[in-house]
Amino acid sequence: MLHLINKEKIPQHIAIIMDGNGRWAKERGKDRLFGHQHGVLSVREVVEGCVEAGIKNLTLYAFSTENWNRPENEVNGLMELLVTTIRKEAETLSKNGVRLFVIGDLDSLPLACRQELDEAMALTAENKSLNLILALSYSSKWEILEATKKIAAKVKAGELLEGDINDEVFKSHLSTAAFPDPELMIRTSGENRISNFLLYQLAYAELYFTHTHWPDFRKENLYEAILNYQNRERRFGKISEQLHLA
Ligand code: IPE
Ligand code: IPE
Ligand code: MG
Repeated sequence: MLHLINKEKIPQHIAIIMDGNGRWAKERGKDRLFGHQHGVLSVREVVEGCVEAGIKNLTLYAFSTENWNRPENEVNGLMELLVTTIRKEAETLSKNGVRLFVIGDLDSLPLACRQELDEAMALTAENKSLNLILALSYSSKWEILEATKKIAAKVKAGELLEGDINDEVFKSHLSTAAFPDPELMIRTSGENRISNFLLYQLAYAELYFTHTHWPDFRKENLYEAILNYQNRERRFGKISEQLHLA
């Protein structure tokens, strides 16, 4: 399916809500962590798929602020899985030209996770093919409030004029400041909601919902989503005829 993708219309940034690990496991009579473990293979597939398709930025929603409210054994299991996965995958990421970034309230993560992430980010810092942005202990409301506080402090200190606050200034205070806004947001497993993910950045993104559970998601599913995106008309408030003027 990769050959069907129009190379001229590749999204610069794809964001994914990796959902359905728990349901996938339940369908197999296994516990939820089994689903999360299998989700790692899908992450590998999608990262490779993005490199092959020439996508430059991929944000994966791996753990939300609200996910801290899950049962303790699931939270601990997810944190351990994160550490072991990063440790195992860092070399491969590096070889594939992937650079790792993390967004979210990182202070709330266990120290072992932060150390592993720091090492992997340092190891991949020079890579240029794909920016892989992990949203960890992330919530968009949290991020927007943090940005607002930083901007308010600058105005108070006289470093920024209230009248100069615009979209560009606001964006530069978000944790995604270094990346373009996602043009395509994919959510697996049939839920039609955003769940506190990139609320500001997704303002004009095309949303793609699929019933496929995350552990079943493969490159072909990614390419199908990209093809679907390429067949949409993005009007940005204009009318169709205006888009076709030279
Ligand atoms: C997504 O799968 C992974 C995380 C939120 C960490 P879920 O664990 O939400 O799976 P479902 O939605 O319960 O099936
Ligand atoms: C969203 O999935 C968060 C991640 C995929 C990390 P959830 O499964 O937590 O979302 P809700 O609670 O069903 O909306
Ligand atoms: Mg879920």
